[in-house]
Amino acid sequence: MCGIVGYVGNKQVLPILLQGLRDLEYRGYDSAGVAVLDNGKIDRVREVGKVDKLSQKLEGKKLPGTIGVAHTRWATHGGVTEFNAHPHIVDGRMAIVHNGIIENYRELKEKIQDKNYESQTDTEVLAKWIYQNYKGDLVQAVKDALPGIRGTYGLVVMHADHPHQLVAARLGSPLAVGIGENEFYIASDVTPMLPFTKRVTFLDDGEIASINSELKIFNLRNEVISKNITEIDWDQAKAQKGGFENFMLKEIFDQKEVFEDALRGRIDMEEGTAKMGGLNLTEEEMRKVKRIMIIAEGTARHAGLIGKYAFERLANIPTEVDFSSEFRYRDPIVNKDTLVFVISQSGETADTLMAAREAKRKGGQVRGIVNVVGSTIARETGAGTYIHAGPELAVASTKAYTNMTAVLLLYALQFGRLKHTSLATGQRMLQSLLEISEKMNEILKQNEEIKKIANIYKDYKNILFIGRGVNYPVALEGALKLEEISYIHAEGLAGGALKHGPLALVSKDVPVVAILTKNQLYEKMKSSIQEVRARGARTLIIATQGDEEAKEVADEIIYLPKTMELLEPLLNTIPLQLFAYHVSVALGRDVDRPRNLAKSVTVE
Ligand code: G6P
Repeated sequence: MCGIVGYVGNKQVLPILLQGLRDLEYRGYDSAGVAVLDNGKIDRVREVGKVDKLSQKLEGKKLPGTIGVAHTRWATHGGVTEFNAHPHIVDGRMAIVHNGIIENYRELKEKIQDKNYESQTDTEVLAKWIYQNYKGDLVQAVKDALPGIRGTYGLVVMHADHPHQLVAARLGSPLAVGIGENEFYIASDVTPMLPFTKRVTFLDDGEIASINSELKIFNLRNEVISKNITEIDWDQAKAQKGGFENFMLKEIFDQKEVFEDALRGRIDMEEGTAKMGGLNLTEEEMRKVKRIMIIAEGTARHAGLIGKYAFERLANIPTEVDFSSEFRYRDPIVNKDTLVFVISQSGETADTLMAAREAKRKGGQVRGIVNVVGSTIARETGAGTYIHAGPELAVASTKAYTNMTAVLLLYALQFGRLKHTSLATGQRMLQSLLEISEKMNEILKQNEEIKKIANIYKDYKNILFIGRGVNYPVALEGALKLEEISYIHAEGLAGGALKHGPLALVSKDVPVVAILTKNQLYEKMKSSIQEVRARGARTLIIATQGDEEAKEVADEIIYLPKTMELLEPLLNTIPLQLFAYHVSVALGRDVDRPRNLAKSVTVE
């Protein structure tokens, strides 16, 4: 996820671009840059870090001009360096800003004559590709270049020969165009344009916009399309969060889109397997892995627990999951046959970083599963996978958990297919993964319903969450979400463990949230729920669509679409995130910044 701003009109462009970047900083904040065209010349300034640092660098510099593009970056390809920051410029003549991932950048490189690259980014390849297609008409260049591209993009280009024109295109990454008096704004969301105009149109996938004295929008068949103009009346603070009350809710809703980013380019349907580039092991070496260890803290560890089920079931590899903080102070048995995954959203958690070093020292093969590109864990492990969840700002992790889970499932499948998992099972799993984001959407549509349920539970002082099998980590995660942002005491338990102690806690004052989706442990789970109901507990049940029987054990019920058992956590956690969120809002908590917690804990 990155933020894009562009402007063409008669105002000085630089202040508009800088303010726009600040408004979009939630979309990425590891580097930022601006390019302004004046007198046939493009001037560019880029800087690593937040927009304020770019702004400082620009102090005293004059970048006059009334047309320009700008970008705030969330790195996906290439580390966080000034060279990798956007805008990218080709030949001093054309500037581009891009949000998305170009999957076939390696193939494109073969076709591009100009072999001098300053960055490691897919965007620079895209820029050169468009430039190579330029024959004097900028819109035509973009139209001719796009069919050769595989991946996602929201892009805006500006060319020195066209001092009053911006050309934009969208496939998968949002772009809005604001229409003013003889001026146009373009940005990843409407916030940067709201102080100047409320009249906005949104590009749809497969559309190309030519913006000069007028706005013309084409589809890929080169037909001109007439678009609706929307009058926006959001207040600005809301728009900064994409229209959501706060970052956590926005990030919960982001999941349906960023989940696809975790899968993109990693699926091989024909072979029924995953292609995870970052492992750096040959197939022979992969078959030799005797043990897997997963090390993480908090939500990342819960994703790791789901990974354990997947590695053991699909690949038959014994898998242990540990708290980073425990691992580093035990005497863990790690050797060259042990593959160690360290999982971290921030890539900076001190305990996890130290555990990774310890595992390396003991001779383990250490791989990172990380969200923040260029973070310490990503750099130190040197190999592994980015989860592509985009910036996660709310302290309570939601979309990063989902994408960590997705990456672990893909790894497990890849190992499984080298061992006993059949082609048919592999293909069925991949097909189910491809259907997940639509199913997430169906769950998110129940937001209002879940809010009503949350209001029923908000005044309890203790709440238990129970699940079995692959839904045990879901129960842990549901409880963690609730306690970290609502401050209600919550515990996640394995359904079967209830009767060995925690059942003593259960009474009419201690409700139970239970995950009862239709899988091989359904009947067992139902018995656990009956045990708590017999002690007077109110029950909120997460069930599979169409399961009427589940109502027998429910005071409240949330129905979810069916999926393969191993994939259930990807869906079953979402209503629990929304539940925790609405309980906390109802209690008046600061949802994005809960007391005593930090997004990443870089001290021991
Ligand atoms: C902190 C946060 C948790 C997070 C954990 C691991 O405790 O409050 O929300 O899950 O760190 O963070 P990481 O960035 O390593 O995933």
